[in-house]
Amino acid sequence: MAFKDYFRDFQSLIANDNIFLRQIIVEKDFDDYYEIYSNDEVFKLYGGGRGTTDKSVVLKILQNQIKEFKTAKIYSWTIVDNKYDKAIGRIFLSDFQAKNRIANIGYFINRSYWGKGIVTECVSSVVDFGFSFLKLERIFTEVATDNIGSCKVLAKNGFIQEGILRHCFELKDSLVDCYVYSKLSTD
Ligand SMILES: CC(C)(COP(=O)(O)OP(=O)(O)OC[C@H]1O[C@@H](n2cnc3c(N)ncnc32)[C@H](O)[C@@H]1OP(=O)(O)O)[C@@H](O)C(=O)NCCC(=O)NCCS
Repeated sequence: MAFKDYFRDFQSLIANDNIFLRQIIVEKDFDDYYEIYSNDEVFKLYGGGRGTTDKSVVLKILQNQIKEFKTAKIYSWTIVDNKYDKAIGRIFLSDFQAKNRIANIGYFINRSYWGKGIVTECVSSVVDFGFSFLKLERIFTEVATDNIGSCKVLAKNGFIQEGILRHCFELKDSLVDCYVYSKLSTD
């Protein structure tokens, strides 16, 4: 099967009894995502983009998730709190190298949901999906060395810290170092 065929039908995932991972529904999820994007703290240590209070920018980011899936570029799940039917974050696989079966993993959640074990469980579901359904061999990510929460999430999911990239990406107008973490299908 060609790699792009994995993107024909979106696969939702169940992280646990309370947390569901599904494709974004732009109009329904807009206010919940706006709450996340307009909180600077969420993006303080996040290398993949910045927060914004500009609603048109948020709308564009959300619409892009649909396009990126259709073009087999990024597989993004919206993290949903089942109890309140609320979109509380995003987790995704990106930077696919189909030939080498490699992908990058990224994630963020609403500030009020930090420290409840949610992303640890979401990463577990998405990594299982990456290895079993997408037949990936290596899943990796780059994390600012100050991002203790994210480092813990990865370590708890059996990711190995491979090394440090110096001045890897820009945060708050200065370049920061990051750790490279990876997990192989055989780990
Ligand atoms: C980093 C982030 C994804 C962690 O998600 P989370 O759901 O809060 O993580 P978990 O609750 O599963 O926590 C795992 C561990 O990290 C700890 N932790 C979580 N956030 C932390 C923080 N900001 N500072 C220190 N420790 C933190 C938890 O207490 C837990 O520790 P324990 O295993 O000793 O109990 C979340 O804080 C976030 O969205 N941050 C902003 C975006 C971001 O940095 N994304 C990652 C970019 S690489």
